[in-house]
Amino acid sequence: MTSLFDSDSLPSSHEQLEEGAVLLRSFAAAEAPLLVEEVARIAQGAAFRHLVTPGGYTMSVAMTNCGRVGWVSDRTGYRYDPKDPQTGSPWPAMPAAFLDIAAHAAAEAGFAHYEPDACLINRYTAGAKLSLHQDRDEKDAWAPIVSVSLGLPAVFLWGGKRRSDPVRRLRLESGDIAVWGGPARFVYHGVAPLWEGRHPLTGTARINLTFRKVF
Ligand code: SIN
Ligand code: FE2
Repeated sequence: MTSLFDSDSLPSSHEQLEEGAVLLRSFAAAEAPLLVEEVARIAQGAAFRHLVTPGGYTMSVAMTNCGRVGWVSDRTGYRYDPKDPQTGSPWPAMPAAFLDIAAHAAAEAGFAHYEPDACLINRYTAGAKLSLHQDRDEKDAWAPIVSVSLGLPAVFLWGGKRRSDPVRRLRLESGDIAVWGGPARFVYHGVAPLWEGRHPLTGTARINLTFRKVF
């Protein structure tokens, strides 16, 4: 039986991680400079900040958002908020180039008609990391997470559906896109501490766009 996520039908630059999850190598390489420019524009309206977790830990990754809602964390919990708590204003609109690359990548991974309503933007500098977690604050439990890497390389941690499952380490380069949804939607994932470096697009940082369908 062939499934929607059949690895036999994937081009060689596409690496299937498991059913519903695929790594699209260099998929956004051409768009990367424009995407980085858009991030700078967004950060002028909604600055990068280090959020505090409900447990009182300040995250090493700096975050901001664009789109209809943005992911935020504070001492009261995690939530999607239509307004930036720092300014009281709506988050900057999602640029057309963001929607475009996200929808194309999702389609390539087997998820047609992807219309994300949120984009969390992560900025990593040397030493910043994201501990193993599941993305489970979204109502849509099937639509994929589309994750675009820009700038410095990182080691992506790809686990399983239980926190205790073995974890694979995958190098992500600027322009690579990871897509996981459907049967892979709740796989544990994270990012290992970033190595120091310099990249022509982002200087001493790695930027990651994660698109989500929240509603
Ligand atoms: C995330 O899990 O939200 C971000 C992953 C990444 O930075 O590659
Ligand atoms: Fe995540």
